Amino acid sequence: AQGQLQDRLERPLRDLRISVTDRCNFRCSYCMPKEVFDKDYPYLPHASLLSFEEITVLARQFLAHGVRKIRLTGGEPLLRKNLERLIEQLAALRTIDGVAPDLTLTTNGSLLARKAASLKAAGLQRVTVSLDGLDDATFRRMNDVDFPVSDVLAGIEAAQRAGLGADGGLKVNMVVKRGTNEQEILPMARYFRSRGVTLRFIEYMDVGATNGWRMDEVLPSAEVIALLRQEFALLPLEAAAPGETAQRWGYANAQGQWDPALGEVGVISSVTQAFCHDCNRARLSTEGQLYLCLFGHQGHDLRSLVRGGASEAEIASAIAHIWQGRSDRYSELRASLPAEAAPAPGEGRRRVEMSYIGG
Ligand code: GTP
Ligand code: 5AD
Ligand code: SF4
Ligand code: SF4
Repeated sequence: AQGQLQDRLERPLRDLRISVTDRCNFRCSYCMPKEVFDKDYPYLPHASLLSFEEITVLARQFLAHGVRKIRLTGGEPLLRKNLERLIEQLAALRTIDGVAPDLTLTTNGSLLARKAASLKAAGLQRVTVSLDGLDDATFRRMNDVDFPVSDVLAGIEAAQRAGLGADGGLKVNMVVKRGTNEQEILPMARYFRSRGVTLRFIEYMDVGATNGWRMDEVLPSAEVIALLRQEFALLPLEAAAPGETAQRWGYANAQGQWDPALGEVGVISSVTQAFCHDCNRARLSTEGQLYLCLFGHQGHDLRSLVRGGASEAEIASAIAHIWQGRSDRYSELRASLPAEAAPAPGEGRRRVEMSYIGG
């Protein structure tokens, strides 16, 4: 029945992540290294992108199958022209519970100061901003286009003023690379703790095939938490939703109780503590390929269905069929392999890039 989809590992479909562009104005080395994503890189031509109407048709069928949350990603989603029009269309859709989907967006924050108010007006509920450090020199080095940190911080403030995520719903994601930005962990925690923003530390992942990932550059989340505990009293919190990526920790008050006013931090430990067992996320690429795992090699073409005039029932049944065949659990399998057995970058089958499939 609709809304009851389960994959081969009995995981439901709850979270749809839609990439709206494969382009970005940053060149973070862990995601779009400059040497690969140069002026000759073959970005998708406009005609192969899903239109807003096509995205909306597909999203409606995903919602009918039980999706509760829709996240727009990229590349940098705010580079997609008139994104507010898409947000309006998605905000008008309903989940199987008859409510609007949790509608959010992942951004590098560079255009947020300019766009926060119009995004909110269009119906976006919250945002997650990627930010890898507060020190300007470190941040400029990591985005690799010399973008100043002050503009991203201004974007985060504008998002807060616009009401994009009250009560810790506004999140900041920091990818931690050992030897590159680990010295930013405590300053980031101090800064966002007093500002009602939920900061999350992400283990550097071996996603894609171009970032030259090495295990010795991963700083395990356990070390992040140990470092934070030298300065802050932290209490483990329950997951806010099933299948959540982050382990949550609340800041405790003097009585040793979690104080929501102080907020929380999280760690996303895809490398050292894989969370595939309840992964409920599907990813729709910029050109309408459905991927069942961030580390997938092969998508399922939904664009030709919508463009070919398939009925809603046909699209719904195709999605059901694809999800029911799913058995992906890359991070768990990697964790059980000896590190030397993992294929070196460039070897083995080509993995899809995160800028194409969406974070
Ligand atoms: P919230 O509802 O805001 O908590 O969102 P979320 O945690 O689902 O999404 P977000 O985009 O903030 O995820 C943060 C980061 O976690 C991403 O940028 C990825 O680096 C990583 N991530 C998200 N989903 C997956 C996943 O399914 N597998 C793996 N391995 N990593 C993921
Ligand atoms: N490892 C971990 N997270 C990554 N992201 C992109 N590449 C990687 C990687 N190699 C995530 C970052 C960024 C989001 C868009 O994608 O969290 O915030
Ligand atoms: Fe752009 Fe985000 Fe990738 Fe950085 S991590 S290059 S900001 S898409
Ligand atoms: Fe889900 Fe794949 Fe990430 Fe595992 S590695 S949590 S299956 S997207």
